[in-house]
Parts: sequence; C-alpha cells; structure tokens
Amino acid sequence: MEFHVYDTAREACEAAGFLFAAQITRKGDSILGLATGSTPIPAYEMMVEWHKRGVLDFSRIRTFNLDEYVGIDYKNPLSYHAFMEENLFGKVNIRKENIHLPSGNAAADGEAYDKMIRDAGGIDIQLLGIGRNGHIGFNEPADEFTYGTHVVTLTEDTIEANARFFKSADEVPRQAISMGVGNIMAAKCVVLVATGANKAQAVYDTIRGPITPRVPASILQLHPCCVILADREAASLMKD
Ligand code: GLP
Repeated sequence: MEFHVYDTAREACEAAGFLFAAQITRKGDSILGLATGSTPIPAYEMMVEWHKRGVLDFSRIRTFNLDEYVGIDYKNPLSYHAFMEENLFGKVNIRKENIHLPSGNAAADGEAYDKMIRDAGGIDIQLLGIGRNGHIGFNEPADEFTYGTHVVTLTEDTIEANARFFKSADEVPRQAISMGVGNIMAAKCVVLVATGANKAQAVYDTIRGPITPRVPASILQLHPCCVILADREAASLMKD
C-alpha cells in the first residue's frame, strides 16, 4: 500500500487526477472505476481540462461507477448519474454506451452489473473516496464483507453525512446499490483519496487497524496495487 500526504485537499485529489490521466494515456481503451462525493471533483476537473487541451481522449474509455441511490430517478440532480454527467461525462468525448452506473430502480440487478464489469475485462483503475465511518462505495460497516454489487441500507452516520447535498436528512434515500468489496478488490489498481479532518480516523483505521468489515476500506491492506492519497488533515492521526 502506497500512502502519500499532501498539504491541501486539492493537491491530494490532483495526484489522483494524474494517475487517471497516466492510465488513459498509457491505455486508450482503459476501464475506469469511478466514484462520486465531493472529494474526487478536482480530479474530474483536471481530466476535463486536459481533455479540452487535447491531452486526454475518452473516445475508447469505458467506465463503471461504484454506486447509486435506490429510488431516485437518474434525471434527479442529486442522483449519482446526474453528478457524473455534470462533473465528467457531459464535458469529455466519452461515448454514452461506454458509461455504466448501477441502476437505482427497485428491480436493480447487481449480478448483471458484475457480469458487465467482468465481460469488459475488469476495472484497470478504481477511484475511491471514503466515508467517515470507513465505507467505500456504499459498503457500510457490517459483520461481513459483501463480494458483488448489492443493495445496501445506509447507516444513520452516512445519511447524516450526505444530508448536506439534500434539503434535509429526511430526503436522503435510505438505500443505495453499490459495487461490493470483491468488485473493488478485483480492480487492477485502486486509488483512494481522503481529505479533511473528519476522515482522519477512517484513514488511520484503514491503514493501521485490523482488516475488518467494520472498517470496509481496511480490506485494501490486502490489495496488491493500492495508493492512498490524503491531505494533512486526513493524515493527522498517522504521525508515528
Ligand atoms: C458517499 C459515496 C462514497 C464517498 C463518500 C464520501 O457515501 N457513496 O463513494 O466516498 O460519500 O463522500 P465525500 O467525498 O463527499 O466526503
């Protein structure tokens, strides 16, 4: 596991942007695993900027997103579909048919999503944020790890943390569909970005704690190619 600390949140996220740009440059038909949340936005801004300047070509890139809320229309501006359109897909030359997100409708089929990822040849590089409770995607702390894409009931902590995007906590969907820990571990390389003081405990537990489904990100200790990029605040407990 590689761990790098940056002075600012922006620098940590830009480092992730560099890794994705390198992947796209090295392999024009890469399969990217993408994440939502406020953390990765600067990485997407960089990719858009480099695309506009002619450096990055997305015409052969395929993407699979980690997760989506259940019961939210994909046209709703708070859906992760809309987030990705706004921050990346609508601004680069990616083909619509190469974009994949799990479907948040009630009949969502996790196994079909896993099969699509496998049939595409697997994810080359997976971007991750982290929840303050150590969740990745929407894999919440639990008694066991879940392998594949599945519907999750969100914890109170996550509902509260994500309420800032909605009018109130009451409006945050109670369920989401998320790639499982197995999907994430199957990615050839994983890049996790953590910024802000409220992620410090999760970063410490992920890197120094026991590997446990109570801290879903801790499984990344076993990944052969995992890079964690943090700002000083998120790294503040990692002193010695
Ligand atoms: C959500 C997403 C996660 C993300 C987390 C942290 O719960 N499902 O993928 O990592 O939020 O979000 P933020 O980056 O806004 O702190």
